[in-house]
Amino acid sequence: MSNLFAPLAFNRGPAMKNRFMLAPLTNTQSHADGRLSDDEFKWLEMRATGGFGLTMTCAAHVQASGQGFPGQLGAFSDDHLAGLTRMAAAIKAKDSIAVVQLHHAGMRAPAALIGEQPYCPSTDEETGARTLSTGEVGALVEDFILAAKRAEAAGFDGVEVHGAHGYILSQFLSPEIDRREDEFGGDLAGRSRAIFDIVNGIRARCKPDFNVSIRLSPERIGLRLAEVREVAQGRRASSISWICFCRMSSKNRSRKTSRAATCCPILPIWIGATSNWASRARSIPSVRPINAWTRASISSCWAGPPSCIMTSPCGP
Ligand SMILES: Cc1cc2nc3c(=O)[nH]c(=O)nc-3n(C[C@H](O)[C@H](O)[C@H](O)COP(=O)(O)O)c2cc1C
Repeated sequence: MSNLFAPLAFNRGPAMKNRFMLAPLTNTQSHADGRLSDDEFKWLEMRATGGFGLTMTCAAHVQASGQGFPGQLGAFSDDHLAGLTRMAAAIKAKDSIAVVQLHHAGMRAPAALIGEQPYCPSTDEETGARTLSTGEVGALVEDFILAAKRAEAAGFDGVEVHGAHGYILSQFLSPEIDRREDEFGGDLAGRSRAIFDIVNGIRARCKPDFNVSIRLSPERIGLRLAEVREVAQGRRASSISWICFCRMSSKNRSRKTSRAATCCPILPIWIGATSNWASRARSIPSVRPINAWTRASISSCWAGPPSCIMTSPCGP
């Protein structure tokens, strides 16, 4: 593995001063309307003070109807701008790269929380979610892009698009969940269209050095590892600065908090970075076994050293 304390450059934007990224961690500390609270501000500021080369916020929902948890950070309204601006400034003041994770829970949004029937690519009996119309998918894509623009306006260095963990973008990728007959369903090109429309839209409408990354899950909820690999390797993804693979996918609304996540002070997750991520980032690191996926399953796809480590610290 590379020297963990050596800087790491991406294909755009500032370089990380070291190879440690704070994993996105939902802590349900925001105000009910998604505005940043002082508690959440302090928690993240302390992570940046602790020395992470990159500090990522928890998943921030891009539509009110995409809220997955009470107290979730929001990025769907200009009312969130003041808090996001304060957060970005504090993280960057500690010489840490500031990134917002953008999220929509889809079928995993609790109806009681969002005050309406949740929605997803195709009707889902288990969760009671309804099918998004084609127009609503377009609005979803647009709201991801607008949230990225908001993050940019707030001073963040970039965003991570949350396409993992069984939330709405991984619901689109799953042929079991996405049974649509419009352009957002069918083959992999259709099922990944929303993701690429979002990534390309952010790239086109944010400043050139704004970082765009994506988190993908390789399996569960009907995802096919080979297809997810294809999405990660897709030429259209070449504008992505880094890709994070993470399991923990669940179709259920209940949070799946892994024992490893709550016990380990350091959780390494495979993460590819730099402009030539496709050739550089090739396996999960082995600092410690993790619950992300098996080495065997991934080694059939990737080989070689990781570029950096993403960690989920426990406690203050
Ligand atoms: C309390 C908690 C909150 C989390 N919140 C998020 C989140 O907001 N976004 C995300 O992509 N992952 C989230 N994760 C996942 C972590 O970023 C990290 O990937 C995970 O803990 C490590 O994977 P594992 O649990 O499969 O070992 C969360 C994990 C925990 C334990």
